[in-house]
Amino acid sequence: MTKTEDPAPVDPVVGRRVLVAVCGSIAAVKLPQLVSSLVQHGAQVRCVLSPKAEQFVSPLALASLSRQPCNLEIHQWDPCQPRPLHVVLAEWAELVVVAPLSATTLARLAQGLADTLLSSTLLATQAPLLVAPAMNTAMWDAPAVRANWQTLCRWPRLLPMVPTRGLLACDSRGIGRLPDPELLLQGIRAALATGGVADLKGLRVLCSAGPTREFLDPVRCLTNPSSGRMGVAMALMACLRGAAVHLVHGPLSNVPASWLDPLDTCPVVSAAEMGVALAQRLPQVHGLVMAAAVADHAPGVTSAVKWPKEALPNPLPLQGTPDLAADLAARMRGDQWVLGFAAEHGLDRARALEKLRRKRFDWIVLNPVGLAGRGFGNQPNGGVLLWADGQEQGLASQDKATMAGAIWSALAGELHRFQRSGPRPTVT
Ligand code: CTP
Repeated sequence: MTKTEDPAPVDPVVGRRVLVAVCGSIAAVKLPQLVSSLVQHGAQVRCVLSPKAEQFVSPLALASLSRQPCNLEIHQWDPCQPRPLHVVLAEWAELVVVAPLSATTLARLAQGLADTLLSSTLLATQAPLLVAPAMNTAMWDAPAVRANWQTLCRWPRLLPMVPTRGLLACDSRGIGRLPDPELLLQGIRAALATGGVADLKGLRVLCSAGPTREFLDPVRCLTNPSSGRMGVAMALMACLRGAAVHLVHGPLSNVPASWLDPLDTCPVVSAAEMGVALAQRLPQVHGLVMAAAVADHAPGVTSAVKWPKEALPNPLPLQGTPDLAADLAARMRGDQWVLGFAAEHGLDRARALEKLRRKRFDWIVLNPVGLAGRGFGNQPNGGVLLWADGQEQGLASQDKATMAGAIWSALAGELHRFQRSGPRPTVT
């Protein structure tokens, strides 16, 4: 692997041909936002609508936002088209996003029924499919719908995005909502990066994210400015690429709420709580991602009631928090891996590698803080992924979700066949 100081950012969406297939469901009203967001991120977008979808979302709006004519049922057998439209669209697409997928179109696909422009396009394409059903909870639970869904999930190159929980248009609360456009965008990134192959399927991953807070009294604490965005992005991207993910996180800020929707989450506050939550889950997973910015110190004295400011201990005695990553890594089996993060001033590889060895990590992301466009609290991030033997891969300054995708792409192959040579050394 070559050394790359700052490679060009690679958002998998840029320049890619994405066909958005919209079915008849009230959730179709979210599609203009998704199409707009895809175009803004540099994708080429075309839309195809089922006959019912036209009643829920304006073809004119989708045409305007995609800068392309919107493909409707009436266009399929247009005598001015030299080739069948469903074949043209099927061959054009590098990825087809079916959102929302209705129960009717699901049944058509499961049965191979090519009786609409949209279903014939989906049957004709060889591009990967990202499918996001949305419907009433009882419909989603109906045995016939479930059977069709299981059939569809067996298709090759298909990434499923299951409905999320919340208030539905029928006024009930339950599972059935279309994932938010922001979450769909991340699913599209994962599908484009992997060619629709769920490359982390079969892996169980434990992630930590966010800062911890160490309270002095109910209104004062020691913490740091981590938003948690990088750790949650690692968890989300692993989940969208097929892994079963548990996320243990401190107080989050500036993380899109929808990123948490598909994750199994455990919110904690202090380093001690985070340590307990991670240790409980550790035996069941294949690997650990330690992206949390654990506070290094906790107050040496605490009070359950607010201290008047004049009574505050001054100087404040401090005590070190446990090094969670090192403690967890020391307990791991030989077939379990751990990816750490190192927040360093500048690109100090030697310091990051020293941390990797001291904490028994298998890889470490050197995450420079204090540089423009990188690090804590920033929207973009960047750095270098380091292997224990000194190999490295540069991570351009980019959106944290894209960076998380690049890290998983670099490691996916190794994770499935991970086995340490010999057991991890015990702690001394
Ligand atoms: N970490 C941890 N527990 C701590 C401190 C850090 O588990 N009490 C983990 C972080 O999640 C990260 C790695 O250790 O994966 C490195 O964290 P970093 O803040 O870069 O290093 P520190 O060990 O805190 O050392 P320093 O602050 O001196 O650089």
